[in-house]
Amino acid sequence: MHDSKHSSRIGVLTGGGDCPGINAVIRAVVKTALNEYGWEVLGIEDGFEGLIQPGKVRPLQMSDVRGILPRGGTILGTTNRANPFNYEVEVDGEIEVFDVSDDVVRYAQVLGLDALVVIGGDGSLRIACELMEKGLKVVGVPKTIDNDLQGTVITFGFDTAVNTAMEALDKLHTTAESHHRVIILEVMGRDAGWIALKAGIAGDADIILIPEIPYDIHAVIEKIDARNRQGAKYSIIIVAEGARPVGGDAVYQAHREVGGVRRLGGVGEVLGAQIRELDHSEVRVTVLGHLQRGGSPSAFDRLLATRFGAMAVHLIAEAKLGEMVALRDESIVSVPIAVAVDQQKIVPLSSDIIRTALSLNVSLGNTRAVIERMAVEAREQVA
Ligand code: F6P
Repeated sequence: MHDSKHSSRIGVLTGGGDCPGINAVIRAVVKTALNEYGWEVLGIEDGFEGLIQPGKVRPLQMSDVRGILPRGGTILGTTNRANPFNYEVEVDGEIEVFDVSDDVVRYAQVLGLDALVVIGGDGSLRIACELMEKGLKVVGVPKTIDNDLQGTVITFGFDTAVNTAMEALDKLHTTAESHHRVIILEVMGRDAGWIALKAGIAGDADIILIPEIPYDIHAVIEKIDARNRQGAKYSIIIVAEGARPVGGDAVYQAHREVGGVRRLGGVGEVLGAQIRELDHSEVRVTVLGHLQRGGSPSAFDRLLATRFGAMAVHLIAEAKLGEMVALRDESIVSVPIAVAVDQQKIVPLSSDIIRTALSLNVSLGNTRAVIERMAVEAREQVA
């Protein structure tokens, strides 16, 4: 364990999109640091913005984290717009981009931070990696509803989001059945289909469309028609925001995100229009949106987030800097942050969950033969 003199003050920040369970991590970090090591904890507000702008750092005591375990969001605030390496500032009405990373590292030194806990998704953890190269001592906690980080079986926030999407599907079922409609639920997840796939199976969707399997609209129509022929005169489709048709592109929102990052969204309506045109079914589209990011964390996420937060502090005590806490089998372990952000974790087509969906005759938007061929090709690429 570190000499307590050398790790007496740590910082914690939350970056990128929020998700259920962040407060549980913050609480566990503060409680573990204070109880077990007698360290001070500084809360950095609004992600890396709090290390760029003054007046955004405050000590966190036990009283600050009392009662926050079940609360969604983050008591520290967050942003996905404060990358110190590409920091946007309005100068004379124009947006200019600056690299303020050296200032961030200096400010952390001025604050006397021996280490910084970064609770973030791939964007924030990638920034953390780059700051580490400049001397900042960091440990990471994987946070995202998308579950798209390598190195960990699961990220916290994902389970709650899947539950939210599943409950939405339960509710859509009854109205779809009453009105004999096709109802499409569009869910988040960026370029990974984890939310759609898992919520789709848990919520009994008839058709699940994920970015990993480009969909053939004719296969979608065939499934709807088959259900009609069998007497089930309604169909439920869950579509991941990053899903795309065979040979086509994902659907993006018209306005651009700051920093040039394009935002996915709208595939539900596009798909709905295609079905109406080809099948004349009555179609309705629900976009679940940011409901997936809110709410009280599930028991699974509270526990995972709490274990992650406590372990992040233990990693600092063991001088395992540059590591990210992760779930492997039943245990919390650590992996280099660089491994986690190396590439996005998408749904492997050879996974048992894909096979389960196919066994249950759920349509994944393409023929079984195509999906199996894609799985073989993906395996060959890895080998
Ligand atoms: O990464 C989490 C996530 O919710 C994605 O699933 C989604 O594409 C994106 O963030 C939405 O971002 P914003 O909060 O900027 O709308």
